[in-house]
Amino acid sequence: MSKIHAAITAVNGYAPDYILTNAELETMVDTNDEWITSRTGIKERRILKGEGLGTSDMAVQAVNGLLQKRGITAEEIDLIVFCTTTPDYPFPATANVLADKIGAKNAWGFDLQAACSGFIYGLTTGAQFIESGKHKKVLVVGGDKMSSIINYDDRTTCIIFGDGCGAVLLEPNDEGYGVLDSILRSDGSGRQFLHQKAGGSVRPASHETIDGGEHAVYQEGQAVFKFAVTNMADVAAEIMERNQLVADDVAYLVPHQANLRIINATANRMGVGEDKVMVNIHKYGNTTNGTIPLCLWEWEDKLKKGDNVILAAFGGGFTWGSVYLKWAY
Ligand SMILES: CC(C)(COP(=O)(O)OP(=O)(O)OC[C@H]1O[C@@H](n2cnc3c(N)ncnc32)[C@H](O)[C@@H]1OP(=O)(O)O)[C@@H](O)C(=O)NCCC(=O)NCCS
Repeated sequence: MSKIHAAITAVNGYAPDYILTNAELETMVDTNDEWITSRTGIKERRILKGEGLGTSDMAVQAVNGLLQKRGITAEEIDLIVFCTTTPDYPFPATANVLADKIGAKNAWGFDLQAACSGFIYGLTTGAQFIESGKHKKVLVVGGDKMSSIINYDDRTTCIIFGDGCGAVLLEPNDEGYGVLDSILRSDGSGRQFLHQKAGGSVRPASHETIDGGEHAVYQEGQAVFKFAVTNMADVAAEIMERNQLVADDVAYLVPHQANLRIINATANRMGVGEDKVMVNIHKYGNTTNGTIPLCLWEWEDKLKKGDNVILAAFGGGFTWGSVYLKWAY
């Protein structure tokens, strides 16, 4: 019998309605459209507005649409891997909240935290449960309400991040389609350059942490940039080499959307042309765990059965990695 792979059999996404443009940011902090566009490629990002709404509410929209597309019920889901850096609550897991909201009564689930590499880590993790034969339907969700941890007085971070969520369904495939390889890496010594200072067990919330703005993203942009540009490109090239793929074999690169310059450097290193690179950073900014599934969702109509697709990401931690998959439909 041929090996069982985990194939993506459905994808869907959700981007909130509110559009935060560069023009609006110009009224909030000392910045301008030209700077943001040339340094990052971002023109606008989406913001989830509304009292009491969290990351799970975007996931409900994405997943309900996905189930409808695939023609299955939530009760058929075995496992939910919810990749997020902005969970609804410190506990319980957002996966549990989502399961309750969509009626996934037979699923277990957990949240996976690997910052911007979360979706790649989660896809690889979810795939193991399919490959082992343990589960038949695994939902991998990537989503973040980054606006909940952004200081909109900090021009170095507020221009980058946005809210959004995407999800894929993994099912067994014995015809050679699905997740074929992945390389996952991490280096915790990089945590100093990109993190949230307070709100965890080291520095629980206090008046001091709130007054100090310590519950927002802290980033040393240049250090992160240097690391990202090298490692994301290296790992994407490595997975190609390991699978004897040349640029012509690759149908699409799906890069994490953090900065257009980093995306271009990765594509150049792989030798793939612009037409093969999924880019929607201009519309959504960096939605952290949402970027890769949102790209897959937007390119779903163009993807063809048998396409070789390379995913690549890097994020806080530091974390980084790449996945090679063969599109299954
Ligand atoms: C954040 C980032 C866009 C900044 O771009 P950069 O080219 O590195 O810019 P620098 O930080 O060197 O700042 C250059 C200048 O622009 C200024 N600047 C910073 N933000 C600005 C803004 N929004 N508008 C206008 N000027 C700004 C800085 O103050 C600095 O001014 P100075 O030269 O007078 O000191 C870039 O470093 C980056 O994308 N880093 C990686 C971030 C990332 O990918 N994070 C997600 C990880 S998952």
